[in-house]
Amino acid sequence: MADIIDIAREHASALARACQVLASGEPVAMPTETVYGLAADATSPDAIARIYEVKGRPRFNPLIAHMSGLAMAERYARFDPVSRALAEAFWPGPLTLVLPLAEGSEIHPLCTAGLDSVGVRVPMGFAGELIQAFGRPLAAPSANMSGKVSPTSAEHVAADLGDRIELILDGGPSGVGVESTIIKVEGDVVRLLRPGGLAVEEIEASIGRPVMRPETTGAAIEAPGMLASHYAPAAAVRLNAQDVVAGEVLINFGRQRIAGSDRAAAMFDLSTEGSLREAAANLFAIMKQADQISSNGIAFAPIPGHGLGEAINDRIARAAAPRPEGNDAG
Ligand code: TXA
Ligand code: MG
Repeated sequence: MADIIDIAREHASALARACQVLASGEPVAMPTETVYGLAADATSPDAIARIYEVKGRPRFNPLIAHMSGLAMAERYARFDPVSRALAEAFWPGPLTLVLPLAEGSEIHPLCTAGLDSVGVRVPMGFAGELIQAFGRPLAAPSANMSGKVSPTSAEHVAADLGDRIELILDGGPSGVGVESTIIKVEGDVVRLLRPGGLAVEEIEASIGRPVMRPETTGAAIEAPGMLASHYAPAAAVRLNAQDVVAGEVLINFGRQRIAGSDRAAAMFDLSTEGSLREAAANLFAIMKQADQISSNGIAFAPIPGHGLGEAINDRIARAAAPRPEGNDAG
């Protein structure tokens, strides 16, 4: 079973032990403001291979390279002016920028899945300190078995990967609760590759121009990890439920009146106050709880699509999508 170190109580030893495990080529589970990540040296093929092995994830899926700050990121990736402005506005924070690799970039092709671009993000809090102390970027997908719901607590990580890794760093519940928003700037066009923990409206307000959603660009979804079925609970998932079928678990939002609620096997509310931020922070933990109840499936009440609602609706749509054999989502 993995050692779990509480960062708040043992900050210095958490950093030292994590650096030691990373230097040995083994991955470490670390808290970030979005979800817990399974981190390994992004310049080492053996270390990155261990991430794929532990998660059971296919190799063609590129990983995000986490940096300690813009200065480190500029050693590995090339910034156009809009991307740099976004980095300055939102890092550290839940924003990933897909950028061309810098010449001679030491990010290993196993991290980029052989692409000539790299997804770069500067996480908040302890993860940033760890990268600074380690001195190299960390490749980190969410710290869950491939295709499962992302972890937002050390307990979630332990339940899923505890017998496969050495070390889990416990930083308490993830504040944002959904993965980072992924943006790619292509000439004059700013494209959304994945909705996430930073609302698109905030990005648009910051740069003063529109962000193109995948539908409006007409291009195929370009973030290669964006396969339809993802974040899959074992139970069947139904969206925009106007009523509850007997024996279903209801996941509500903002105390809506949903017909047949009295027939539900159990009820949760992502945010009784109707806060999309709170709903995002609670989403994965509540999906996991709902999935542990024996039921006829999970029904989600309608959730508004603005702000963080865009990411929430994206994740629950993936949870509801048909599950192909050999689901290879990350
Ligand atoms: O919040 C997060 O982003 C979390 C935490 C741990 O930082 N990480 C995360 O990583 O969600 P992951 O591996 O689940 O998502 C990585 C996704 C890929 O599936 C792909 O969609 C996109 O990032 N991506 C990475 N590099 C890319 C590239 N060069 N071009 C296009 N998309 C890329
Ligand atoms: Mg993931």
